[in-house]
Amino acid sequence: MSTALILDCDPGHDDVFALLLAYGHPDVDLLAVTTVAGNQTLEKVTRNALSVARVAGFTDVPIAAGCDRPLVRAAQVADDVHGESGLDGPELPEPVHQVESQHAVDLIIEAVMSREPGTVTLVPTGALTNIAMAVRKEPALAERVKEVVLMGGGYHEGNWSPVAEFNIAVDPESAHIVFNAPWHVVMVGLDVTHKALATPEVVERIRSLGTGPSRFAVELLEFFGEMYQDTQGFDSPPVHDPCAVAYVIDPSVMTTRRTPVDIELSGALTTGMTVADFRAPAPSDCTTSVATTLDHGRFWDLMVDCLERIGEVEL
Ligand code: BDR
Ligand code: CA
Repeated sequence: MSTALILDCDPGHDDVFALLLAYGHPDVDLLAVTTVAGNQTLEKVTRNALSVARVAGFTDVPIAAGCDRPLVRAAQVADDVHGESGLDGPELPEPVHQVESQHAVDLIIEAVMSREPGTVTLVPTGALTNIAMAVRKEPALAERVKEVVLMGGGYHEGNWSPVAEFNIAVDPESAHIVFNAPWHVVMVGLDVTHKALATPEVVERIRSLGTGPSRFAVELLEFFGEMYQDTQGFDSPPVHDPCAVAYVIDPSVMTTRRTPVDIELSGALTTGMTVADFRAPAPSDCTTSVATTLDHGRFWDLMVDCLERIGEVEL
């Protein structure tokens, strides 16, 4: 049984791996890709999504652009790790298909509300602006989606600040809406994604596939690796976003714990922190879970198998 999934993203080097996994895995029915301002401007990340669709051959999947800034705060981009284009490194081919005319928020609402309840999973791998807007505009969304599995946050560490992760830190008000809506949220945060390292062995496995999409993936990892080394001292880059998709495909690739999580909106040092309360067993009405461990080997097996399945794609 495949899972119907909408990927809401801001490509972004690691978002590309989430796209490849969601498109390439036979257990996922990728209904749509929606974009949100984050790693770069909305215009750039949307163009990047269209270019990746050409590289990987998913030009039949609708791509819709969403919000071009956070709900309340001014936009911030992550050009320190993703570069000026948002996908620096490989050459980006000209897109061959058009972005949808429908706004991403409306597409998400329509896609979920037109399907059987409990059948669509939302996977946000960028700021939560589109998802927050969608559930505010159509509150029934919360009971219609299967669950929200997001890359963001972390209960031990931050990357945009000592305690806040980028996707949450740039739009904490949207994150607050999403974490407090009455749906199940699985937070796949830095606690596990910092373990999803593209080690030299992983990069060689991908390179050895010898296809256009795999070369593109390697060039992304080479640029991303240099940036992570220079800015954060990582020996190998953490490939955050596909971890959320991997959880949807095979939840046993990580362990999770049900626990209350809320978003800090006003701390002088802690704005955007995902505050997880591990003090006691979660109350019965708790709707949030956090990922706690990742099986590195199985995660990369999933990713490499997918790239192999995508195979060669004519440009
Ligand atoms: C997250 O921030 C972005 O830069 C990445 O694409 C990922 O979604 C990691 O903090
Ligand atoms: Ca992202």
